[in-house]
Amino acid sequence: MDIPILLDPRSRHPLQGQLYEQVRHLILGGRLKPGTSLASSRALATLLGVSRNTVMLAYERLAAEGYLQMREGIGTYVSFELPEDCLATERLTPACSDERPCVVSRRPIAFEGRAHGVVNDGQLTCDFWLGRPDPHSFPIRAWRRLVNRRLLGAGARLTEYGEPAGLIELRREIAERIGPARGIDADPEQIIVVGGCQEGLNLTARLLLREGAVVAIENPAYQGAANLYESYRARLVPVRVDDNGLRVADLPEDGVVLAYVTPSHQYPMGFTMPLERRLRLLDWARRLGAYVVEDDYDSDFRYRGAPFPALMGLDRHDSVIYMGSFSKSLGAGLRLGYLIVPRHLVGAARTAKTLLNNGHPWLEQAVLAEFLASGGYDNHLRRIRKSYAERRDCLLDSLRWYFGEIVVSGSECGTHIAWHLGASLPRATLMRSLAAERGVGLHDLPSSAACDFGGCTYSERTLLLGFSSLDERQIRGGIERVAAALDPAHGSLRGLTRPRHPRPTTYVAP
Ligand SMILES: Cc1ncc(COP(=O)(O)O)c(C=O)c1O
Repeated sequence: MDIPILLDPRSRHPLQGQLYEQVRHLILGGRLKPGTSLASSRALATLLGVSRNTVMLAYERLAAEGYLQMREGIGTYVSFELPEDCLATERLTPACSDERPCVVSRRPIAFEGRAHGVVNDGQLTCDFWLGRPDPHSFPIRAWRRLVNRRLLGAGARLTEYGEPAGLIELRREIAERIGPARGIDADPEQIIVVGGCQEGLNLTARLLLREGAVVAIENPAYQGAANLYESYRARLVPVRVDDNGLRVADLPEDGVVLAYVTPSHQYPMGFTMPLERRLRLLDWARRLGAYVVEDDYDSDFRYRGAPFPALMGLDRHDSVIYMGSFSKSLGAGLRLGYLIVPRHLVGAARTAKTLLNNGHPWLEQAVLAEFLASGGYDNHLRRIRKSYAERRDCLLDSLRWYFGEIVVSGSECGTHIAWHLGASLPRATLMRSLAAERGVGLHDLPSSAACDFGGCTYSERTLLLGFSSLDERQIRGGIERVAAALDPAHGSLRGLTRPRHPRPTTYVAP
């Protein structure tokens, strides 16, 4: 194995001593693991431009002290049992060729930011974790076939850079198939393929924000957006949401550079913004010359009624940047999403994307383009929409069975609901911890990547429940366990006769 050694022939310290120190340091620092085979003394001497004797002397000293084992005819290895008194010493002291420990004083790094939790630690046996597709729903066979086909015809596409804004076939499919479903009439040129909405948020922030820029944001909001804007040192102005989404009348009347909204299915509360309020939001943006960033993260799933057109589809003044994602329809592991930008931002967005990463990986884009073009994506969506609607019904039925009349929002769309806890139930944090004791994950706002800026009435009495990744048996069992967990703490559930399986009923939204 090649090891990073730098010898200084001008140092007062002999070469064999420098070599000894540096190898020893690599071993103690854990960079050379026990059992690692080192280069032969001849090979290392050639590599370092020193005599073989220099290397031999250093190796022999290391072997005598127990760091190395030299086996005749086999080679030189890092010992499995290092000398104990050495392990405690100098572990983290970088080696300098002149023997003094290096003390590096650094300035604080320029980046300041907080990250939202994206990875579930999976401690719970039944977790109503939000926004995850059913792991069994991924169209693995079709995907594998398309991957193979595209790889066979890849030519130079894997060895050369592609168009930074994204593969034109994919952008065409998005413009022709997905745009119209949202009421958006866009050219493929307006589409930038990104690594999910999160990268879309980054790109738009890069385009629009300077330090101190004012960003209006929903309260409560998606933490991934709030943290991102904070990391750009924007000044956030939280604007409360009600059951029609962002309260447009509460938006500041000047100085705002962009407003971030989730109008199809407000994150986290699930409210849908009605048409009249959408039009007022667009009018506000026009008056201020502000942009609206429309995060349409899960609108593939609408279970009742026709969807409202996206803000971008209603906009006549090029004020909206639209973000879509395949994270909920296919899977977050793909890291695929897209931006649709007004024409005047196309050049800047393409440049920003080039600077960020020179474009998105070709293979995933090519496969997705073909999956869309073949109609496979539409079939897949139809299938999972039906199954998610059944899961949602099962969740609502189970909640009603065990908890009586319930108030929920967001059940007509998306992959999670918000359960507004009645006064007879404990607060959300207590509900969450009681459920967790039974291995069930219920999530209050802080544990669901939601950001409450204060003054928001929902935090204490709202639980968010994702239903798409659990099957009906798991959903029923999970809610039954929550009810059981509450029994000792909560009088009103006592005496309730619980069936083995909740009665199926048809849910009517309140
Ligand atoms: C409101 C909202 N926006 C954006 C995202 C991020 O999605 P992506 O995986 O496309 O980055 C999420 C993820 O759950 C979300 O809930």
